[in-house]
Amino acid sequence: MDLQILDNADHLARAAAEHFLRRSNEAVAQRGWFTVALSGGSTPKRLYQLLAEQFRDQIPWSGIHFYWSDERHVSPRHPESNYRMTNEAMLSRVPVSPANVHRVFTENPAADAARDYEDTIVKQMGGNPRLDLILLGLGADGHTASIFPGSEVLRETKRLVAAPWVEKLKTHRITMTLALLNNGASVVFLVSGAEKAQIVKEVLEGPEKYPAQAVKPVNGELLWLLDQEAAGNLTTMALRRKL
Ligand code: 6PG
Repeated sequence: MDLQILDNADHLARAAAEHFLRRSNEAVAQRGWFTVALSGGSTPKRLYQLLAEQFRDQIPWSGIHFYWSDERHVSPRHPESNYRMTNEAMLSRVPVSPANVHRVFTENPAADAARDYEDTIVKQMGGNPRLDLILLGLGADGHTASIFPGSEVLRETKRLVAAPWVEKLKTHRITMTLALLNNGASVVFLVSGAEKAQIVKEVLEGPEKYPAQAVKPVNGELLWLLDQEAAGNLTTMALRRKL
């Protein structure tokens, strides 16, 4: 596991953009395409804007297949839609191939949307799909993607995509499961802000009890990108061990 601490949120987004640039260019040069699962929430928005703006001309957009590590069960035009956020921040502003943008069809019942999403992933990538890059965030409760504490998805070993009911949010979510996340070639957590300092410390230094701690790529890279604020509660011992 690699841990990098950046001075601030902008440097964090830049470090993530450089990782995306390296990985996407390597993959497209080697085999002509690159697959990435985008994360939602607020943290990665700056990354997506950077990729569309300052990194625009260095990314092999037409060779990239875009997926989402999770999605809210709302219309793709809804303010809370991860697809809408990434489309506005990046996809609508760069020359992607529309056929390579694989959004979750959240207009359908959650279970149908999850099953169809899994079918799309398997159709595109085969029965043991290994995404080149998976971006993840960390919730203050230790959730990642839409795998929340206590979720039955934590025990899912077969399905690649699930549609759990999230009681605290009173809604279904559609999420990649640990079986899919832990098959990723490069899994990157992007965490920013003082409000995440405590959960970052508990996840990186404490006993295993949060969904984010179940993300352990089987034969892939696990990279934590933090800004100083989010890393504020880490002990030196942890930093020495991780870095
Ligand atoms: C979502 C995300 C979720 C997010 C964390 C952190 O759909 O909201 O996938 O897992 O990454 O909740 O969210 P913030 O970046 O907004 O803090």
